[in-house]
Amino acid sequence: MREKDVIIACDFPSAARTLAFLENFRNRDRKPFLKIGMELFYAEGAPLVRRLKEDGYSIFLDLKLHDIPNTVRSAMAVLAGIGVDMVNVHAAGGSAMMKAAAEGLRSNAPAGSCPKLIAVTQLTSTSQEMLRDELLINEPMPDTIMSYAANAAASGLDGVVCSPREAAAVHRHCGDHFLTVTPGVRFADGELGDQKRVMTPAQAREEGSDYIVVGRPITGAQNPAEAYARCIEDFLK
Ligand code: C5P
Repeated sequence: MREKDVIIACDFPSAARTLAFLENFRNRDRKPFLKIGMELFYAEGAPLVRRLKEDGYSIFLDLKLHDIPNTVRSAMAVLAGIGVDMVNVHAAGGSAMMKAAAEGLRSNAPAGSCPKLIAVTQLTSTSQEMLRDELLINEPMPDTIMSYAANAAASGLDGVVCSPREAAAVHRHCGDHFLTVTPGVRFADGELGDQKRVMTPAQAREEGSDYIVVGRPITGAQNPAEAYARCIEDFLK
């Protein structure tokens, strides 16, 4: 796993579709870092993740755990055994749950390679109105995000998922070493899809993002390898 990287969101419904997509990267020097979310993991489970690891890919398993501490600890021990590179929980599960997640990972990670543990702060689909009217939280959204990030850091987590727009503030608040993993990335001349507040790979780099998560601009491109190379060039130069 590299220190800064582009993570491709493999939002596909099956192993067959995923492996067909990955053919685009065969014989290239750089193995992409892949994100596997609920859709693909619920369809194919650990065997696909193990296979991709054996093929040399780094894997961010994006399952966003949120349950009582004991359940999350046990689940994380299982995920550590699969050998993934990055996993996540919802910071809304609280400090005890986040600490339990870290313990679970450490208890079963291969020696010297504990997966990075990242917290989701607020989902980008959550609005200020929803916070106020449904969750009865009256604080401004940015304050809740920084508070969740601070709780995650204090619980020993490695970083957060956030918008690239928040990456600089998270680093100021929680330290430069605290990772920011940022979806919501688009090329300046690309389509937004359902993402609203986006940044380009170059802007995300300038904001200090550590990892950008890019799905459709790569998976939906005419030439995915070229789109990936463009992301790498813009984000890492
Ligand atoms: O296709 P696109 O580039 O929008 O994909 C972004 C990926 O990041 C998706 O897998 C999406 O679920 C994920 N994500 C996000 N916003 C968050 C958390 C995760 O877009 N706040």
